[in-house]
Amino acid sequence: MAKQTKVSAADSGQEFYHPSKEVVKNATIKDYEKVYKRSIEDRDGFWADEAKKLDWFKKWNKVFDDSERPFFKWFVGGKTNIAHNAIDRHLKTWRRNKLAIIWEGEPGDVRTMSYHALNREVSKTANVLKSMGVQKGEIVTIYMPQIPELAITMLACAKIGAAHSVVYGGFSVEALADRIANAHSRVLVTADGGWRRGKVTDLKSIANEAMDRSPTIEVCITVKRTGHEVHMENDRDFWYHDLMALPIASPRCETEVMDSEDMLFILFTSGTTGKPKGLVHTHGGYSVYTASTHRNVFDVKDEDRWWCAADPGWITGHSYLVYAPLINGSTIMMYEGAPNHPYPNRWWNMIEKYGITILYTSPTAIRGLMRFGDQWPKRHDLSSLRLLGSVGEPINPEAWKWYHSVIGNNECPIMDTWWQTETGGFMITPLPVTPLKPGSATKPYFGVEAAIVDEKGNEVKPGEEGKLVIKNPTPGMARTIFGDPERYNETYWKEYEDKGWYKAGDSARIDEDGYIWVIGRIDDVIKVSGYRLGTAEVESALVSYPDVAEAAAIALPHELKGNAIHVYCILKAGIKGDSKMANEIKNHVSKEIGPIAKPEEVHFLESLPKTRSGKIMRRVLKARAMGVDEGDLSTLEE
Ligand code: WT7
Repeated sequence: MAKQTKVSAADSGQEFYHPSKEVVKNATIKDYEKVYKRSIEDRDGFWADEAKKLDWFKKWNKVFDDSERPFFKWFVGGKTNIAHNAIDRHLKTWRRNKLAIIWEGEPGDVRTMSYHALNREVSKTANVLKSMGVQKGEIVTIYMPQIPELAITMLACAKIGAAHSVVYGGFSVEALADRIANAHSRVLVTADGGWRRGKVTDLKSIANEAMDRSPTIEVCITVKRTGHEVHMENDRDFWYHDLMALPIASPRCETEVMDSEDMLFILFTSGTTGKPKGLVHTHGGYSVYTASTHRNVFDVKDEDRWWCAADPGWITGHSYLVYAPLINGSTIMMYEGAPNHPYPNRWWNMIEKYGITILYTSPTAIRGLMRFGDQWPKRHDLSSLRLLGSVGEPINPEAWKWYHSVIGNNECPIMDTWWQTETGGFMITPLPVTPLKPGSATKPYFGVEAAIVDEKGNEVKPGEEGKLVIKNPTPGMARTIFGDPERYNETYWKEYEDKGWYKAGDSARIDEDGYIWVIGRIDDVIKVSGYRLGTAEVESALVSYPDVAEAAAIALPHELKGNAIHVYCILKAGIKGDSKMANEIKNHVSKEIGPIAKPEEVHFLESLPKTRSGKIMRRVLKARAMGVDEGDLSTLEE
């Protein structure tokens, strides 16, 4: 059977990559338009059918409730627990023997766990958390490298009805302390470190420093991963393995019955203003939405070995490394370290070794590996792959084509999935049968109505740039911002209040074929290597450097990272900046927020372009740096 993708010209003059006959034959959903139409005309019916594919302790009374808009509710009255769907229900089937997790550490150590084994670890950990007094509803902060215990702790929290707040292991002291404070966490679960490029990342020292700034913390549980010396505080610090060896850590633990709308986790993400916002996701709608998108978009089968190469510290890891694939009973791959350690064939080697069938990663990772040349993937048999995925930022056609031909052997369709921390799961995405255009996330997922609109809210013509909006709520969308419902309304719903649309914060175009092309953020959010950072966070780290009086951060295009951070600083009176200070400032930001926030370049200025009301005009800085037209300067106060 024909396996290769056929390329044809689209009306628009672009290329269409058609799925091969084999892909179409194997696809569960062959007619996107038909299912899409039904999902829009009978939205509640569609989502009820998706929800029925999961287990419920008690069925919902109402699929969708918009009586308190924009605080929408889904599967109202339903009782469930995501941990039950991700683990417990599989134990009654043959899947209890199936591998749930294949994990490889950077030094090459391997651990595998069946669903049966995963259940034991999760239950034991759940009992350990209970013994530390963790209650239903409280938020446990997790700060860990990519090791199985990260997923296990998330699931253990869910199982006992506690919420988790995972802080990305690449974040540093200030970022961690802020998030602990915002979540009022009493318990922190961390590790002594992880392996990255052959070195130990010293998570415990960062955690200790952050805890010094966090009065709410009473207990810290530390997983021993690297074995290097760390400081443990009496009465506060416990080793995970010590607790797991105690009789309280029984492998039997009841899964708590949760309401559909009960909080499953909060996850912080950057926005326009200073403090990151903790988006709240729930047990019911989130389970249904993530499982549905994962099952349909990646057409998951029991034979698959699924690898989402994102860190669990981000929404991609929450939804598609941990929860959705486990709900769908998949075997998941997890890798601790850097993609090019010790050599640039590390990923390709693991794909061959474990027979990975679906790889889901980011444009930045693809570009990073592409630059080492074709010889690295070519050394490996990658024929187990049948589908590829991309997420985090627009993928440039050059990287798309390399991914498609060199990694996918011109046989694997690429699912370019557009979504956000706020949406919980894919919103704009192809299915395996969708003809693809390199660089376009194609069309909305079932139940999603997307549009590109102008300033007045009218749909723009094909080819014109506009703002991306989602016209209706979906079950996986965040319910609120933790502790700040007003900000939730303000940020996402206020602008189109009369229409009931969700503002995505991205600009995009739609073409004659109805394909959506996402361009990038229109707010003060920067995407660096696919990671999301707020200019405000970077600026607040900059002004915490003693000599900096005022600062502005902008994003400029970068070949590998997509965007890089460039900063402009005004120094305190009488102080002169030099390259030594510029380096110190870079390191300071890296220490406060994390290495991903490290500025590419630091510039010293006498003044910053501002509006009359005193707002920094970052777009003017950006235009100047790029040597393009500065646009409308009528509000500029020079
Ligand atoms: C922002 C959301 C969703 C998981 C990872 C990021 C950008 C995301 C794509 C894509 C173009 C994309 C958008 C979006 N983005 N996926 N396939 N094509 N842009 O989640 O950190 O909440 O960031 O990432 O700008 O708004 P996030």
